[in-house]
Amino acid sequence: MNKGLLAAIGLVVIGGGAVMFWQASTPEVDPTAPTVNTMMHGAAAAAPATPADQIVEATLSSAGQMGKTVFEENCAACHGAKAAGSQNGPPLVHRIYEPSHHGDYSFVMAVKNGVRAHHWRFGDMAPVPGVTDKQIEWITKYVREMQRANGIM
Ligand code: HEC
Repeated sequence: MNKGLLAAIGLVVIGGGAVMFWQASTPEVDPTAPTVNTMMHGAAAAAPATPADQIVEATLSSAGQMGKTVFEENCAACHGAKAAGSQNGPPLVHRIYEPSHHGDYSFVMAVKNGVRAHHWRFGDMAPVPGVTDKQIEWITKYVREMQRANGIM
């Protein structure tokens, strides 16, 4: 066997291995899966969402209780019951949204200006008109109380 042929066989073997590795490490992309973009924010982003049935209901303050009502009317369609996430949007009871990473002002910005998709693959969040500053404050309280009850902050 000449050297050229050996090299060619070697390339085929290595190449084949690389393709198999590539296939094994490239999961099928399910657009509805709440896949976290781990490129953006490291460990916090890599933490998976807690299934809704494992999310603990917080004992809510009165502001938190009002926030829950407004949340259910305006946000739960995407962020899910108990803010646990849904097919349309991410959980907010999640380490990514702890106060040190997404301060309370990010809620104001999200509701007023919308959110460009950057952590997940649900697409952009459109602004939610008709929710007042006070109501955003209540919603934020609700989410923080839920986060606290679930050991996130
Ligand atoms: C139509 C679906 C939809 C609705 C309704 C919705 N959101 Fe969102 N929201 C999203 C999606 C999707 C993202 C994630 C974007 C990303 O980072 O990939 C998001 C992200 C957020 C964030 C994170 C912002 C950031 O800085 O990363 C906050 C806070 C938020 N939403 C609050 C709310 C609140 C409060 C309401 C209700 C008033 C609401 N959302 C209603 C889809 C929605």
